[in-house]
Order: sequence, then structure tokens, then C-alpha cells
Amino acid sequence: MNIRFNMANKEISWLNGNFIDEAEAVVPIMTHSLQYGSGIFEGIRGYETSKGTEIFRLKDHVKRFFNTAKIYAMNLGYSQEEIENAIIETVRRNNLKSCYIRPFAFYDDHGVGVGTAGKKISVYIRALSFGKYFSADTGLKCKVSSWHRMESAILPIEAKASGNYLNSVLAMKEAKASGYDEAIITSRDGYVAEGPGENIFLVKDGALLTPGVDSQILLGITRNTIIELMKESGMKVIERFIHREELYTADEAFFVGTAAEVTPILNIDGISVGDGKVGEITKKVGETYFNLVQGKSKDHQDYLTIV
Ligand SMILES: Cc1ncc(COP(=O)(O)O)c(C=O)c1O
Repeated sequence: MNIRFNMANKEISWLNGNFIDEAEAVVPIMTHSLQYGSGIFEGIRGYETSKGTEIFRLKDHVKRFFNTAKIYAMNLGYSQEEIENAIIETVRRNNLKSCYIRPFAFYDDHGVGVGTAGKKISVYIRALSFGKYFSADTGLKCKVSSWHRMESAILPIEAKASGNYLNSVLAMKEAKASGYDEAIITSRDGYVAEGPGENIFLVKDGALLTPGVDSQILLGITRNTIIELMKESGMKVIERFIHREELYTADEAFFVGTAAEVTPILNIDGISVGDGKVGEITKKVGETYFNLVQGKSKDHQDYLTIV
């Protein structure tokens, strides 16, 4: 592979097959995806390990990116392998250690009109240094949102599409304006779905509970990793509909996600979760997850792509 180091200390992005200075990655304000929310994206993390920077579950993220593109009938014009290689090379050229990677595809067209037929699609990759997502990462105060999660008959919930995040933005705004750290969003039927950018787990009687595939959730890669790791450790993991009131009677609760990693939830709607402290199972889940992503575990080495 062609390795070129970033001597000028510029941030380098990938756009349509070329490495460019991030300062040159600009679009007109009338761009279709900016006006109508028609972009699609991924969120991937890289971690510093003793073997160098590793990208966590790269193939799975790129696969989800292509699945989202397929749902929206967007032809990205690249193979999954080409995008994987472009991501690795973008991290390498920026000499990044712990980082966040954002592949993004969008209608790069600034005519007026919602239709997408014949419009050019651009693919972009940005990678930047990244630490914690939540400032209160030792434990969150959450609010069950008055906004409900959209469902597949309205917007494809399994697609990671920009427009879906307007629902997240409303829920987050409401939670923050009411003095909470984060929102928990329920389905129109009142079942727990997810956070604005995270999946949720509860602990009840020593078992893990998480909303299932029918609960209007993004099928998170972190969620999937945690289900797998915890089942392997012998813990019972149940995927099912979760009633709102179960949030208040859970022994422990936590969010998971690429950005959120494993973040404890200590209070929901002013009610303490369990005794209001980070629980033992949440700690165990966090440790197991961080061991894996930081390259300290012998298992699941295939999840780690060393840059
Ligand atoms: C709405 C939503 N749910 C769940 C997740 C967690 O998904 P993942 O673990 O794949 O990052 C995310 C983050 O991307 C998200 O935006």
C-alpha cells in the first residue's frame, strides 16, 4: 500500500478516491443532502493498542454503510474493500491513535428539488482524534422523551441515514433543556427503543435485557458485541420488548455505542436506577468491552484491524 506520512500536519480526508486537505472538503449550501437530510453515514472508532492503532469491527461498519446505501438505492461506486482500504489509509495518513472515523455518502447536487434521479453521489471519509463522547461518562441522568422513535413504515430505522437523526436531535434538545444528560426514546407503542445515538441495556436479576430487533432500534455493532461477549461469559442476555416502567425498576442500566462505548445510566426521570451507583455488571461489561477494543483480549482478534 502507498504510505505517505502527513508531514505538513494537515488533516487529510478522502473524497471520491482522492486524499485531500480537509480544508478543501466543502460543499455548496444548497447541496441536496444538506437541504433534505439525504446523506448516509457510519461511525467507527480506532483505538491505540500495543500493536498500533486498531479499527474496531471495520468490516461490519462498512457492511452496514453499504446496507444503508442499498436501502436508499444509492450506488456508492466503490467496493466494500475499497472503502475499508480508504478508511485504513485515512487513519494512517493522519497518524491517528484513538480516533473516530466518519464515512459519509451524499447527493452532491445543488439544484432545487427533492428527487434524486441522476444526481451525483459523493463518498467522503474523515478521521479525527477522539476521546470520550459523554462529558458525564461516569453516569448519566436520562429523560424518557416525549418524542417517539420513528418506525420502518416512516423511515427505515435500520439505515444509518442523516434524516433519522432529526428525531434524535429533538429528543436530545428536550432532555438537555430539562436539565438531563441524555434522552431515552420509546416506540409509538411505548416500548423502550434506544438513546439518540446509543442502544440501551438493563440489568435485572443478574441478566441483561435489551430491546430486540422489533423495538425500533438501530442494530448497533456495539450492542451485538456486548451480547456476544456477555453470552460467552455465561451471562443470560434477553432481547425483548421492554416496558417504560421497567426502566425504573431495573437494577442497573447503561448505554452502548461506538461513540458512547459503555456508559452507565444512574437516574431516569428523577428516579435512581438501582441504588444510583454504577453497578457491578455494568462495570464488568465495560471492562470486557474495553479489554477487547484496546487489544488486551485474546478473543475476537478478527474484530481488530491493525492500521
Ligand atoms: C440511533 C443509534 N442507535 C444505536 C447506535 C449504536 O450503534 P453502534 O454500536 O453500531 O455504533 C448508534 C450509533 O451509531 C445510533 O446512532
